[in-house]
Amino acid sequence: MTTTTHAPERFWEPVPGEVDISLVEITGTLPPELRGTLYRNGPGRWEVGSTRLDCLFDPDGMISTFILDGSSVRFRNRYVRTEQYLQGIRAGRLVNQTPGQRLPGGIPKNVLRRLGNSANTNVLIQGERLFALWEGGRPYELDIDTLDTLGMTDLNGALKGPMGPYSAHYCWDPVSESVVNFGLDPYMPRVDLGYLQGARDGVEWRRRVRELLGEVRPRVRLRLYETDRYGVTRYLRSVPLSTFPWMHDMALTPRYAIFADTPVCIDSVALALGSASAMDAMRLERNTPARFILVPRDGGPVRTVETDPFFLFHFTNAYDEGNDVIVELPRFAPETFPAVKAWTMNVRTGTAPTESMLTRYRISASGKVTVEDAGDVPCEFPQFDQRFATKQHHVTFAAALGSSGVGLGAGVARFDHRSSTTDSFRPDGHDLAEPVFVPRAPDSPEGDGWVLTIGYHQKEHRSSLMIFDAEHIGDGPVAEAWLPFHIPASFHGAFTTRIAT
Ligand SMILES: [Fe+2]
Repeated sequence: MTTTTHAPERFWEPVPGEVDISLVEITGTLPPELRGTLYRNGPGRWEVGSTRLDCLFDPDGMISTFILDGSSVRFRNRYVRTEQYLQGIRAGRLVNQTPGQRLPGGIPKNVLRRLGNSANTNVLIQGERLFALWEGGRPYELDIDTLDTLGMTDLNGALKGPMGPYSAHYCWDPVSESVVNFGLDPYMPRVDLGYLQGARDGVEWRRRVRELLGEVRPRVRLRLYETDRYGVTRYLRSVPLSTFPWMHDMALTPRYAIFADTPVCIDSVALALGSASAMDAMRLERNTPARFILVPRDGGPVRTVETDPFFLFHFTNAYDEGNDVIVELPRFAPETFPAVKAWTMNVRTGTAPTESMLTRYRISASGKVTVEDAGDVPCEFPQFDQRFATKQHHVTFAAALGSSGVGLGAGVARFDHRSSTTDSFRPDGHDLAEPVFVPRAPDSPEGDGWVLTIGYHQKEHRSSLMIFDAEHIGDGPVAEAWLPFHIPASFHGAFTTRIAT
């Protein structure tokens, strides 16, 4: 596996604080039509008091906003005041398990403990409401202007289960103007002890005991939610899963909610016992196929379709084409899993993966799966023109991966699926986060607009908002608004034409 050199230690330094500032240093020309607010979520500090954090998924969530009025840029950042954040401040150390770290004290201190909700992965904007999302628990609502934390929410009682997981990766349906999301809800299955009473003899009784013991392990069910255009969330259905997969994202077509059940699974017993961190408990099941799970949105029976093993972090989009379903995603080959896992668990000294390739899967009505390349540049954090969500899209934007980068992403790539061409910007010594596409106007053609991302620039040890003309990525940014400090990493974000106060 090819890997990039690890980011310089300074990349992982904490953001100096929480600020409200105007970004006066602008290079290039701000597009006057680009008006609105970019919200991004990601880790802002890699330590909690005396506890050093090394796993990519561990730090507390920090929301960064870039507020554009056509002629100026303001920046505001705030940590999400989660219970974990506040407890960490008070104690001067990490007080909850994180995905990458157990608490000191072994199993007695970690058994049956929940992971702390760091709210560090994505944002969801619904009209005048803003949520910070993390996949293992409930969302936190924030004031959309001030970024003050309003509190954890179960979305008016819609979220099920004691943890109420609501994934960081929802799908937008532009036809119904709804948001579809999911949560992986762990549970302990009920054991029917009456089953033992029917045994004919001791041999069968012991066999039945072994069967029951095999059932006594944490399971997970996939819960599906939909939020309508008025902001009302309702629970749709649940799907029990036979394994405990790592499922970070979903895709959506007019007919199906789509999930990938890949050979990357979590040892649920080790996780429940606290004998391993969630990341340590994650493993690749060898010689196991991947499965797409197609959950009909109209409530019909669930379809599962096998394909060759792979794993993924994110989907781009999905759509129906006749009776077929098309799914696009950056695909990781299974043999790269150990290196990817090693890097996510120690981003300071590990090496970032560079070998996920944009791939298109076609799933026929009979269950036949065909696979084709959809891009020629390694990439992750795929994005597209959200007006084409659940429909056929012809342009994909993504963070380009490669050895020239210093962090998560080495550049920005634009994949044109009509011409099968790629346009990319991959400068040396920079980290470019997930690119977010903003249409030039509500009725402009697909892919006509701007791409916004946060860039970290190693030489200056500063970050900037980078604005690209989405149809000329390779020309570099048309404008950059410079921060006086750096942002260590940024996972996901969203743009609204609403200008925050
Ligand atoms: Fe993600």
